[in-house]
Amino acid sequence: MSLSRLNSPRLFRQQCYIGGSWVDAQNEARINVDNPATGEDLGSIPSLSAAEIESTIDTAQAAFDSWKRTTAQERANLLMRWYQLMLDHQEDIATLMTMEQGKPLVESRGEVAYAASFVRWFAEEAPRMYGETIPGAKPGQHIIVNRQPVGVTAAITPWNFPAAMITRKAGAALAAGCSMIVKPSEATPYTALALAELAHEAGIPPGVFNIVTGDSKMIGKVLTSSPIVRKLSFTGSTGVGSQLMAQCAEHIQKVSLELGGNAPFIVFDDADLERAVEGAMICKFRNTGQTCVCANRFLVQRSVHEKFASLLAKAMGELKLGNGLDDGVTQAPLINRAAAEKVQQHYQDAIGKGATHLYGPTPGSDQGSFVHPVLISDVSTDMQVCHEETFGPLAAIMTFETEEEAIKIANDTPYGLAAYFYSRDIHRCWRVADALEAGIVGVNEGAISNPMAPFGGVKASGLGREGSRHGLEEYTELKYICMGTE
Ligand code: SIN
Repeated sequence: MSLSRLNSPRLFRQQCYIGGSWVDAQNEARINVDNPATGEDLGSIPSLSAAEIESTIDTAQAAFDSWKRTTAQERANLLMRWYQLMLDHQEDIATLMTMEQGKPLVESRGEVAYAASFVRWFAEEAPRMYGETIPGAKPGQHIIVNRQPVGVTAAITPWNFPAAMITRKAGAALAAGCSMIVKPSEATPYTALALAELAHEAGIPPGVFNIVTGDSKMIGKVLTSSPIVRKLSFTGSTGVGSQLMAQCAEHIQKVSLELGGNAPFIVFDDADLERAVEGAMICKFRNTGQTCVCANRFLVQRSVHEKFASLLAKAMGELKLGNGLDDGVTQAPLINRAAAEKVQQHYQDAIGKGATHLYGPTPGSDQGSFVHPVLISDVSTDMQVCHEETFGPLAAIMTFETEEEAIKIANDTPYGLAAYFYSRDIHRCWRVADALEAGIVGVNEGAISNPMAPFGGVKASGLGREGSRHGLEEYTELKYICMGTE
């Protein structure tokens, strides 16, 4: 990587961060990291062995023994320093992120701020990790309920949000008094390692926050085979999440799983269509369609279909595809060719089964991982795009006649992460919000992610919540103390 782009080249780290030190794999094995926009070889990271992951677990256990004894305020102060350092180095972290992940620089800057906001949120929540007292069962008896940190925790994080998916987990874990081992995606390790450098500079004690890199399957296996690791938080596909959950069963490890989605985005005939299009653009095209909460299916009431589709096509005309480092770019390459091929496949399957092409160049196989935003309509439930997460810039519209029909189609999926709808009828808003089977519902709102709200899904979209006080509670165990009398 050309370090000349960074104001603080020390943030570009190519070693793992374990026990407060930068380390390589003993056998010197390494994994290469590429820039998805240019194919440029950015550098490499260690591929640790199982024994090295096991020894990281011991390091995190030793760190936990003293971290759990710190006061919540001490932890909050350190987290606030980490938060501030992230903001101070926003530009550098964003540059690293765009180079390894591809997303437009403006979005990377936004993600760094979003990532930092979790650290601040949990720093502020740490001193409020309240317990409760309950009237005893016998005269003179007192029941006290405390929250204690679960212990050593592990996070396996994805490439689509290389910073925020780490801080959303680590902010909560560290605030609660847990130590953490993070295994970032091998596609986007440099953002994670820059965060580790800043955690070090913030004074987070050695061993409390660790980053390991290497073979995902092996690391997942070691982390879930250890009785020392008391909790695993994973963001990624439902298939891998379910496998990890099964592995966690052996030692009854707690799990938080943020998995796949298939978000419906419903536009009723009483909606403010301009506002619906604004929400649709954020929701569909943020991160070039590579978010778990992306609208995967637009359900539009028939009478407003034509107007909504033409407004959406017009707004899509403003998008600019290119290298995320270039000015004005809003849509970037997808993470790899396989991701681009999936969008092509969903497009071709839909067109082959009768969908209509409304806007954008036909997704082709000649542009590597670059895919232009494309809009199709007349989509029906037998098409792949209705059942599988596209994870790319394909906007697919289907029409419906009645509210009941829209809800039925929206809920006809094993997933239940996010759902969105637009309506100006307050009664309908309550009815539909209640009826949608999703952990997150955006009502006249396409941007639902923030640190203060509980993020997570139902059904095959996962277990547990991240962000909010509930996200902190995920890293604690309740302890009930029964105080007897003499
Ligand atoms: C995700 O796609 O996994 C997270 C998206 C978000 O935090 O908004």
